[in-house]
Amino acid sequence: MPGFESSAASFVEEAFWIVVGRAVTPVELREGTRQFDAGGRRALLMRLLSSLEFSNRRSAWKDGRDLQDRTGHERGLQSLGANDVFVKRAYECLLGRPADQGGLAHYTAALASGDSRMSIVRSLTLSEEFDQRYRDLAPQNGVLPRDTQLCELANPAKWDNPEWLAILRGLGLSDDKATMHRKPYEFTQLVYGCRRLGALRDDSAIISIGAGHELVLYWLANHARRVVATDLYEGVWQEVQGREGDPDVIRRPEDYAPFSYRRDRLVFMKMDGRRLAFRDGTFDIAYSLSSIEHFGGMPGAIATIREMGRVLKPGGVLTLATEYVLHGPPHEETFQPREFAELIEQPGLRLVEPLDEHVYRRYEYEAIDLFRNPYQTPHMVVRFNDTVFTTVIVFLRKL
Ligand SMILES: C[S@@+](CC[C@H](N)C(=O)[O-])C[C@H]1O[C@@H](n2cnc3c(N)ncnc32)[C@H](O)[C@@H]1O
Repeated sequence: MPGFESSAASFVEEAFWIVVGRAVTPVELREGTRQFDAGGRRALLMRLLSSLEFSNRRSAWKDGRDLQDRTGHERGLQSLGANDVFVKRAYECLLGRPADQGGLAHYTAALASGDSRMSIVRSLTLSEEFDQRYRDLAPQNGVLPRDTQLCELANPAKWDNPEWLAILRGLGLSDDKATMHRKPYEFTQLVYGCRRLGALRDDSAIISIGAGHELVLYWLANHARRVVATDLYEGVWQEVQGREGDPDVIRRPEDYAPFSYRRDRLVFMKMDGRRLAFRDGTFDIAYSLSSIEHFGGMPGAIATIREMGRVLKPGGVLTLATEYVLHGPPHEETFQPREFAELIEQPGLRLVEPLDEHVYRRYEYEAIDLFRNPYQTPHMVVRFNDTVFTTVIVFLRKL
């Protein structure tokens, strides 16, 4: 068969120089030459082309970078015989076929006029033909398992999900794990979940309850038809923490915008979440982040969830994030697990998946002492004295 004339050892050496850009080690040579028939050659090439080494080199070339020692690589490639022998081998290793007449003539002429062998390997690696071959050969290569859970406790695993991280960055927030925090988690998980559930679209109507001037409102205004931010905008929330209840946002929403946004899509309204002034079935998404725990205990929170359900269209999505106690005594403005279970058990609403309450049985963590210093990060689990809690987020579908 053309291209298969060299000995097993030299084929393995050449394949290493061409595909992964380095000399084969003695152990790899021994393994590579074992059971060396046509099937063995194919398997070796498939393994090399699927390797992280090759994938890093190809990505670097795609980005216009070079990862490795160029001189050493060129020297290695120069040791692979005459120009035409090298070109034929490069075709075989990278494109999986013998070199055609035109290609062979083109590349041998380029080499004769001074091009490097590395530039030939690079051209073949970046060719459309190679792209197609790579897609067929290794379609699942490099795709890491990712955590896609929606109903859960604030989950550090999400910082390893590229799709989720892209949303986090799109919100203008840091993806540095050292700054991991429940607030960016809530915003990102809201968008991630509503997208996966098909509820967040260009034509969606969205209502936020206890919205304050949260950043995600402005992002949603750029990605949905209509966003209504509702909040009491009165009382203690005008003074405490981030002054979330500042009523000025109703008059001058642009002053609170972290980035430019479609002003005609976002409106702020003074409204009690327990009595929403909208008709039944108005919205595709109704959500509330870190708010209902302040609405007057269980009765206030239940009234709000029912109202959120009422104003949703059938099939719409209710997203709720609040404080969930992991262990310790009851504390005001937090919910014990059984209380939370009762909250979300409302007629006409169904969890889109079971709630994973076990996240912090899998992680070791330091709970941030909110009385000592609430600004410490990572900020995923917190405590008031002995009451240790985190964020729970759930997605419920209106039946
Ligand atoms: C902790 S802040 C959260 C604000 C915003 N969701 C965020 O994540 O930044 C709680 C908000 O709930 C609002 N709030 C309190 N009671 C409310 C009620 N009954 N109806 C609507 N909003 C209320 C407060 O004004 C405040 O803005």
